[in-house]
Amino acid sequence: MKKNIQIAIDGPAGAGKSTIAKIVAEALGFTYIDTGAMYRAVTYKAMQQNIHLDDEAKLAEMLAASTIELKPSSQGQLVFLDAQNVTEEIRSNEVTSSVSQVAAHARVRELLVAQQQNLAANGGVVMDGRDIATHVLKNAELKIFMSATVEERARRRFIDNQKRGIDSSLEKLQEEIALRDKKDSEREASPLIQAEDAVFLDTTALSIDDAAQAILKLAEEKML
Ligand code: DC
Repeated sequence: MKKNIQIAIDGPAGAGKSTIAKIVAEALGFTYIDTGAMYRAVTYKAMQQNIHLDDEAKLAEMLAASTIELKPSSQGQLVFLDAQNVTEEIRSNEVTSSVSQVAAHARVRELLVAQQQNLAANGGVVMDGRDIATHVLKNAELKIFMSATVEERARRRFIDNQKRGIDSSLEKLQEEIALRDKKDSEREASPLIQAEDAVFLDTTALSIDDAAQAILKLAEEKML
């Protein structure tokens, strides 16, 4: 019988993690868990409630009293916050430009990491984020660190935004992505770094399908 392994995929914004992770999960019959969506949901709620994004204690208190659920659907993964569908809202420019500030708080991370570990406890998961291989699923059977050039990642976000009907400028997106990379990599709590035992995958010149196939090949080996 094939093993129900854990697959951890980390990397900076726009590397293709979520698109590729979803394809890998579907091909293996695994559950896809988008941890970035959880940080976004916390950020969205804090902004709605006018909680200062530097107020770690208030944010942790708010999060402890919140329910975040990720539900698969025919239109992709839906995100529910306190039973309300916030899938679209958490992708707004406002949330995107503030989420690194919220994700930098150790107490926020502790609470979300515990939820993520529970979700992955039985294996059969593909989880993507920034600290999955280094903190959340340290024993994951397969760890991937995915990246691409800043220019290519900005271009992908630009096209993605166009599809969602969100106005953006390529130049501004490039600046924002570079800034978010810097914040995510330089923060004290669980910074974005490649785990020693992770496989590096540069998706700059790879098609989505080629990147997914590369991961599936590695996964098949681990599942034997
Ligand atoms: O993948 P994304 O763009 O939806 O992630 C949103 C933000 O959440 C990103 O700026 C970094 C943060 N994040 C994190 O710190 N740890 C994770 N495991 C996932 C996301």
